[in-house]
Amino acid sequence: MNVTVSILVENTTPSPSLVGEYGFSALIEVDGRKILFDTGSRNALFNNAENLGIKLEEVEALVISHGHFDHTSAVVPFLQRFGPKKLYLHPGIFTRRFLQGKKGLGPNIGCPFDQEELVENGAKIIFIDSFCEIMPGIFISGEIPRKNSFENTGGNFKIATGHGLVEDKLPDDMALLVDHPEGLIIISGCAHSGMINTIEYLVEKTGRSKMLAFIGGTHLITASEDRLAQTIAALKTINVEKIAVGHCTGFYAAARLLNELGPRVIKADTGMSFHF
Ligand SMILES: [Fe+2]
Ligand SMILES: [Fe+2]
Repeated sequence: MNVTVSILVENTTPSPSLVGEYGFSALIEVDGRKILFDTGSRNALFNNAENLGIKLEEVEALVISHGHFDHTSAVVPFLQRFGPKKLYLHPGIFTRRFLQGKKGLGPNIGCPFDQEELVENGAKIIFIDSFCEIMPGIFISGEIPRKNSFENTGGNFKIATGHGLVEDKLPDDMALLVDHPEGLIIISGCAHSGMINTIEYLVEKTGRSKMLAFIGGTHLITASEDRLAQTIAALKTINVEKIAVGHCTGFYAAARLLNELGPRVIKADTGMSFHF
């Protein structure tokens, strides 16, 4: 199995020809088949793919990690440019959702479309809420059980209901998994379910413990000292060769992971690619 994971959108980039943009998007190529995982928050996806020589028209399907704007905002523009595509998503992504800050409730941070608009733009929607294989060796986690007490969604997220604001537990958070013969490759959007919950669930579902890589967001940017310490302690017991963290990981958490876990930790940037 030949696998390439290319980061097309991440908050930062060291390359002058690429655009850093708040959010995440990665192209996953498995034996020539191409899946786009998330899309970022504006249109960096299109600029960066072109500059990296990546032909987005060859993408066979899109997978949405969860319904936050910074992962979904280029979905409709993508469909408008490249035509009808399969779109794997959790039915909960359409929720209107908000971040409660110190100064009050922020704007809607949910995805900027509804189901009807996706269909009108050519999306062939496939709803996923449990672990399943979407192509040979490529899986979507479905909902991830929240087992570890030290992990949370990473923010004061709210959903507006008829009875007021309630906690948004982000049940739609899902990761992508490539079951490579030499180990698991996990791609994460924000890991609102928790980085360790995500890894442990996919290890449980596959019955495999060796991981080639964890790549993507971790939402450790808001992590308490206790959460960071317990996450690092857990990672020390997990057999994972590469931990490429970016987006909502934040500088300090990424630096801490690097200091404590060594050079297998990489700060994921726009334009990086990994081959397995
Ligand atoms: Fe995010
Ligand atoms: Fe998110």
